[in-house]
Amino acid sequence: ARTAVVIPAAGRGVRLGPGAPKALRALNGTPMLIHAIRAMAASRAVSLVVVVAPPDGAGEVKSLLDAHALPERTDFVVVPGGESRQESVRLGLDALPDDFDIVLVHDAARPLVPVDTVDAVIEAVRDGAPAVVPALPLADTVKEVEPAPGEPEPVVATPVRARLRAVQTPQGFDRATLIRAHETVTEDVTDDASMVEQLGLTVVVVPGHEEAFKVTRPLDLVLAEAVLARRRL
Ligand code: CTP
Ligand code: MG
Repeated sequence: ARTAVVIPAAGRGVRLGPGAPKALRALNGTPMLIHAIRAMAASRAVSLVVVVAPPDGAGEVKSLLDAHALPERTDFVVVPGGESRQESVRLGLDALPDDFDIVLVHDAARPLVPVDTVDAVIEAVRDGAPAVVPALPLADTVKEVEPAPGEPEPVVATPVRARLRAVQTPQGFDRATLIRAHETVTEDVTDDASMVEQLGLTVVVVPGHEEAFKVTRPLDLVLAEAVLARRRL
């Protein structure tokens, strides 16, 4: 079973504030995308990485890949992304050669995921799960509210925290299942596994990792650089 990774990296990073597209921002001197690619290529099972670049940034991303040391056993393809994450992932899947039967989808915005997490996801797909997500229990209690812009929002429900999981990437898939999910589900989703759920298939959870957190807001940059410093990168 050959494994490929699609890395959606086409977002602007609005919540991070003004600046370059999020994936191209530096963490301790190296672009976030390069850290994310290295994290995925660290798995010996991964033989192809498809990077989905900002729509007008494919050339820049190709130059970045040439300028940084990456494992020789891994092939790289760069394609331009789309308006939504979902569209960017689909454009990445379109670029996949036929001879891969396991596909991981990994956010460029999770540059520090440890290789053990990547391997655990691949292993669970190899063991027969059509879709696998790494996830962690929540620290905060979660409330469902009735959104009321500009007014105090009433709480509608409090799901039992012990049953909730915060989901990370890489998410792993049987390739045919993920492609069918992207062809079938048309409404907006925030992760790929939920599309497989909509096909009626079971998605399984493996343990996630604290260091697989998503760089979303400015404070996350501080945390990411501290983690890298602790690793001496
Ligand atoms: N992404 C993408 N194409 C888009 C939007 C997002 O490839 N049109 C990617 C991002 O580059 C990121 C991942 O999807 O690696 C997760 O998205 P998120 O963290 O929301 O990143 P952004 O959309 O860039 O950030 P924001 O929502 O704050 O603008
Ligand atoms: Mg976004």
